[in-house]
Amino acid sequence: MQVMQFKPRPDRRQDATGPANVKPPATASPGATIHPIGVQAIAHALRTAADTAGFAPSILDSQPWRWRLTGNTLALYLERGSMDDDVDVDGRLAIISCGAALHHARIALAAAGWRLTMNRRPDPADPDRLASLRLEERTLTEQAPAPLVDSVPLRRTDRTPVTGTPITAAQLKAITSAVRAEETSLHVLYPDEVLDLARAASGGAPAPSGSDDRTIGTAPASLVGSSATFAVLYGHTDEPEDWLRAGEALSAAWLTATAAGVSLLPLSAAVEVVATRQAIQVMIGCVGYPYLLLRLGRATTPPSSPRRAPMPQVIDRR
Ligand SMILES: Cc1cc2nc3c(=O)[nH]c(=O)nc-3n(C[C@H](O)[C@H](O)[C@H](O)COP(=O)(O)O)c2cc1C
Repeated sequence: MQVMQFKPRPDRRQDATGPANVKPPATASPGATIHPIGVQAIAHALRTAADTAGFAPSILDSQPWRWRLTGNTLALYLERGSMDDDVDVDGRLAIISCGAALHHARIALAAAGWRLTMNRRPDPADPDRLASLRLEERTLTEQAPAPLVDSVPLRRTDRTPVTGTPITAAQLKAITSAVRAEETSLHVLYPDEVLDLARAASGGAPAPSGSDDRTIGTAPASLVGSSATFAVLYGHTDEPEDWLRAGEALSAAWLTATAAGVSLLPLSAAVEVVATRQAIQVMIGCVGYPYLLLRLGRATTPPSSPRRAPMPQVIDRR
């Protein structure tokens, strides 16, 4: 086992803003240089990716993942027992957290010019193995820097009340596109839907004004006058592989939001509590399964959330 510290890579010459950048075409673009792969370079790249993943958000800061390095492959494992089972009975929130870590690792590798093969196929013989990243080759091109990777150390959970003007349509579009690129969907709630949700959270009673909008899903909440935008992260099926994808989408949305000056707060209780979950299901047209409610607003400068620190990444070598 080895303890690693995150060091941002200076070499960020490949855009990592979409899946095409995560898995570029096998044929290198004109002007690109293919570098022969050395064992040391591979190990270094994979360790750096795992370190970057250590900055990912996770439910209750549980960081429920573990990386295993074998040759040119980094495998992601769900670390069971890192959270109270009563909080996350089916492991959905833990797997979403692992998906966020996976996305962080992917974009770190893509930004450093690595072409990857991803495997998210569940292995019935090893159900805690969620995914693997296999390095193929390194291609350095003179492309744009990687804004998502640059946002990794800046991203944080912003629990301060949302004030000021709402986020712009362009900001919302960028976040929605980031989610779609990860094969997950985002449904932006209309103001009356937000009020319906607050009502569902309060057991049908009208939501009293003046409550803090962070409490939606767990207690009566008034959203009258709030400048927050609420959106549901959802998908069409509700299996562990979908939750992993949802975590990748959450990470992509959050890093995009950070780069765009937008704060993001996931509100998991809204999808955990039956009444609000059912209300959300109706709002997304009963076509899918909600994974998380997201609160978006103009970013202020919130205090850093208390995280398990320092953030070591543990890598098993085989
Ligand atoms: C799946 C998931 C669900 C979360 N749910 C909540 C939530 O309901 N309320 C909240 O305040 N934070 C929530 N968070 C944020 C975590 O608490 C946060 O990521 C963690 O404490 C680490 O802090 P950081 O994001 O500032 O690095 C959630 C994060 C994830 C990944």
